[in-house]
Amino acid sequence: MQKIFKHIGTIVFIGFIILSACKQPAKTIKPGEIWLDNNGVHINGHGGGILYHQGTYFWFGEHKIEGKAGNKAYVGVHCYSSDDLCTWKDEGIALSVVEDTTSMIVKGCIVERPKVIYNAKNKQFVMWFHHELKGMAYKAAMTGVAVSDRVTGPYTYLRSVNPNPMCWPIDYADSLKTKDYNFEQVKRWSPQWQEASKQGVFLQRDYKRGQMARDMTLFVDEDGTAYHIHSSEENQTLHVAELNEDYTDFSGRYARVLEGKSNEAPAIFKRGDKYYMISSGCTGWKPNAARSAVANHPFGPWTELGNPCRGTEKEMQTTFQSQSTYVLPVQGAKDSFIYLGDRWTPENAIDGRYIWLPIEFSEDKPVIRWHDEWSLNTFN
Ligand code: GAL
Repeated sequence: MQKIFKHIGTIVFIGFIILSACKQPAKTIKPGEIWLDNNGVHINGHGGGILYHQGTYFWFGEHKIEGKAGNKAYVGVHCYSSDDLCTWKDEGIALSVVEDTTSMIVKGCIVERPKVIYNAKNKQFVMWFHHELKGMAYKAAMTGVAVSDRVTGPYTYLRSVNPNPMCWPIDYADSLKTKDYNFEQVKRWSPQWQEASKQGVFLQRDYKRGQMARDMTLFVDEDGTAYHIHSSEENQTLHVAELNEDYTDFSGRYARVLEGKSNEAPAIFKRGDKYYMISSGCTGWKPNAARSAVANHPFGPWTELGNPCRGTEKEMQTTFQSQSTYVLPVQGAKDSFIYLGDRWTPENAIDGRYIWLPIEFSEDKPVIRWHDEWSLNTFN
């Protein structure tokens, strides 16, 4: 009799465990809402990117403060970690801006769109970010690099540069290297101006001092080659630039892509043997229609695939009120990618929201639709 009771007890206990597991709400992502970290604070990781390392996702983003001041860097780059992409633990500030007024990363400079990659050869984490110098608005157009032996940091700032001085892009016609555009006479945004910028008038101008680098991302290919992709040439043309072996400098090999098409906010991912890019146009903090493109190599040529968003006219014209920052491959789910975007709030920068949406594919083209709430089960 006692035995029977014991068995019944065990069965009831197991049933209880199963039932309570089933009752657990699926962990979900709610684009545009307040996203609380483990301390109950809205996640402060704007313009971010994610590194998957040894079973954990690490999110790095711009730490913003309240008000308009938050559009500049007064804290640095914030890091969070997660196993499920829905619950996030605050890992603190990975890269700090400093009080030292002689440092290039003095408080009040601009640090945007930080991305971290892992270099398996020397076991180092390498962070790159769009860097503008204090008091110079967006004129410097530099990219900064910092390294750490620990994924969550602290990262040691190395330097900021205008990439690839004295290097011409691959496949760039000799005749254009010395072309005289007689540019002083040319009216900004006139067809002649646009044609000259497409051909490389700004590339030629910046040849000696190094190229402009504003909105940026990083991409590591399966063979370990890392690329730094940035809006260059007055935001007219993207540069896809190879990094050196330890990922802390440029190798000197780079390509101009989508020349004269004014792409910002590039995010690159690989599906099968194709490379895809999601990007935006140039309208500052205001959202615009996303773009997409495909190539057989990061250096291109890239073929434009149009606006990946599907929805109402407004949703399509504003990318669901967001601007791309990264595309995350979901681990353990083949061909599963998440669009990561920012809904900027420049009047109160800290309140910016995160628009993360699953990417579908239709005829080998990326497609993004709105979801109020969704879970990773979407990819099953
Ligand atoms: C956007 C860019 C942001 C930020 C902003 C400043 O176009 O994507 O990262 O630089 O301009 O106005």
